[in-house]
Amino acid sequence: MEMLVTRLTLPLLVLALLGCGAEADRSGAADASAAPTWPHGWMATVANPDATAAAAEMLAQGGHAVDAAIAAHAVLGLVEPESSGLGGGGFMLVFQAAEGELSFLDGRERAPAGASIDMFMENEAPMNYVKAWQSGRAVGVPGAVALYKLAHDRYGKLPWATVFEPAIRLAETGFTVTGKMAATLARLAPIARIDENPGAADYFFPGGEPLAAGATVRNPAYAQTLRRVASEGPKAFYKGEIAEAIVASAQAAPLGGSLSLEDLATYAAVEREVVCGPWRTLSICTASPPSSGAMQIMIAKQYDHLVPAEGTLAERVQAFVEAQRLAYADRDYYFGDPDRVSVPLEGLLDPAYLEHRATERPAPSEAPTHGDPAAVLGGPSLATFARDTTHELAGTTHFSIVDGEGNAVSSTMTVEGPFGSSRWAAGFVLNNEMTDFARTYAPEGPEPANAVRPGARPRSSMSPTMLFDAEGQLLMVTGSPGGNSIPAYTAKTILGVQDWGLSVEEAVSFPNIIARGAAVRVETGVAPGAELAASLRAAGFDVQEREGENSGLHVIVVTEAGLAGAADPRREGNVMSGGRP
Ligand code: DON
Repeated sequence: MEMLVTRLTLPLLVLALLGCGAEADRSGAADASAAPTWPHGWMATVANPDATAAAAEMLAQGGHAVDAAIAAHAVLGLVEPESSGLGGGGFMLVFQAAEGELSFLDGRERAPAGASIDMFMENEAPMNYVKAWQSGRAVGVPGAVALYKLAHDRYGKLPWATVFEPAIRLAETGFTVTGKMAATLARLAPIARIDENPGAADYFFPGGEPLAAGATVRNPAYAQTLRRVASEGPKAFYKGEIAEAIVASAQAAPLGGSLSLEDLATYAAVEREVVCGPWRTLSICTASPPSSGAMQIMIAKQYDHLVPAEGTLAERVQAFVEAQRLAYADRDYYFGDPDRVSVPLEGLLDPAYLEHRATERPAPSEAPTHGDPAAVLGGPSLATFARDTTHELAGTTHFSIVDGEGNAVSSTMTVEGPFGSSRWAAGFVLNNEMTDFARTYAPEGPEPANAVRPGARPRSSMSPTMLFDAEGQLLMVTGSPGGNSIPAYTAKTILGVQDWGLSVEEAVSFPNIIARGAAVRVETGVAPGAELAASLRAAGFDVQEREGENSGLHVIVVTEAGLAGAADPRREGNVMSGGRP
């Protein structure tokens, strides 16, 4: 217990430098009997009501937040396959209340051993994006099933097989196709191979027509895959028939990839450092690279240097924009697979560096560039990378769960683009996560930090995040899909609830504002987006108005009155709660 309290109340530098490293913290385990009883019951907010119900089913029988997370995600792979599934990967941040242990479990897809730095180049230029996205080269080793097992072995309370029951039941008896899935299929067919590839075409386009909203669909192949994973564990997925189906699909024309049985057999989900940074009296804790979670700390801390005391909402939003511009420029430049490149996270989170950067920020009309922590703080410079121009499309989901004992999961899972690579195996689509690497490569220049490298994990924008108060009590569980816009969407909920006086629903619904690069995108279909766009334009920013945005924020906050949750009205999910003593 001592370790927990110390950890979450340590001064900034120590926290940022240590991360909330799970190894160290686990030694503080124990004395659960001394832990206060959690008075708030459980809550789940997920992008699809069938998946929320699966989480609730686990939580109502005393399951851990991790049990509920796996159950929800196994259902999402069936009912929201455009966003995530067994053929993809993702991140899970887990808070274990009694021990105060926070861990980041990384189930990100890995590049095959045969991947090469120039595999998305053609005639010395980046390959056409659609060609790369739909190619077999885009498929990385799926990480979801290994992530389930790592999380369940460590935290699960219900039997492994139990967590797959809701998804197997739905796959066998049938689920209702949602409007989003039907619309995504119809929109995608003219540009992607989802209506042509073997397996995917039959399942999603029966009789040649896309599945319609409201149709009841069964997926016996998915049920069979889950039954095998439930009874045999991950080896049923990473070896044998299912692995062979994945490899055959990834290697198929056009532009087959090098994904091999060996790549699957050697995949492991891993635990990485949690990064925590004190902000005001709170701690923002999030996933370390290859995640971009640390941007949440960069944005919040730079915001405080930029926001005027007693500032109006428009002034606060302008400070948010300026903080984002700086954080995105550094993220785009420095972040990559930490096993392959040295990400200077300590320097990037150093208070002196963040203050310097905020003070030296570019004018609104100028495009922001990356900074150099070494130039401000001393030490060797790591500013030797090429610029990263990763392109991301919609195809991800986020869910937040708090269980009846106050344990929590913040998890973002993905297949990258909608329906991933459109390739099919054993009842699910395969990811195109390899296009999350910087696809551009100049042989004579330096490599981007996020270059394609054999066996590496591409940088991700996914940012599962939790906030804690000065006593180490859980305050907020947040995150979103949305590709490169994820850090902006997620940071909006933190500032919205903690600084702009919004309720969790209001913060989730608030117009999304994304300031990456020279332009600032403002969601004007939601009030007060039009007014904010006008004031940012008047301040000199290059404002691009967007009617809607693709966030899928699913957020829980802990208030004195109990748990409050929100599901993003831009998606199809809901909040369920229960179990208050
Ligand atoms: O890991 C990433 O950053 C991307 N694959 C996420 C893509 C995404 O969020 C698309 N969203 N709707």
